[in-house]
Amino acid sequence: MKTIRVCVGSSCHLKGSYDIIRELERLIRQHQLDQQVELKAQFCFGHCTKPVSVKIDEKGPYSVDKDKVEDFFRQKVLGED
Ligand code: FES
Repeated sequence: MKTIRVCVGSSCHLKGSYDIIRELERLIRQHQLDQQVELKAQFCFGHCTKPVSVKIDEKGPYSVDKDKVEDFFRQKVLGED
């Protein structure tokens, strides 16, 4: 089981945390990973000046742009390059 944590602190929220959460939910469903990937919201990872902070298990935080969620998902969740 992988856990993806998306920052919903005020700075990341303004940069689109909820759009990223929705997109990640869609990708998890599309790849039928509901049983393997858990999605959670969390407050501030201390990287507020960067794009939205996302952690996967203990890795990260990665900075994810709203329009690059699918690339991020493919690389970090599916393990594609
Ligand atoms: S608000 Fe997201 S890292 Fe601080």
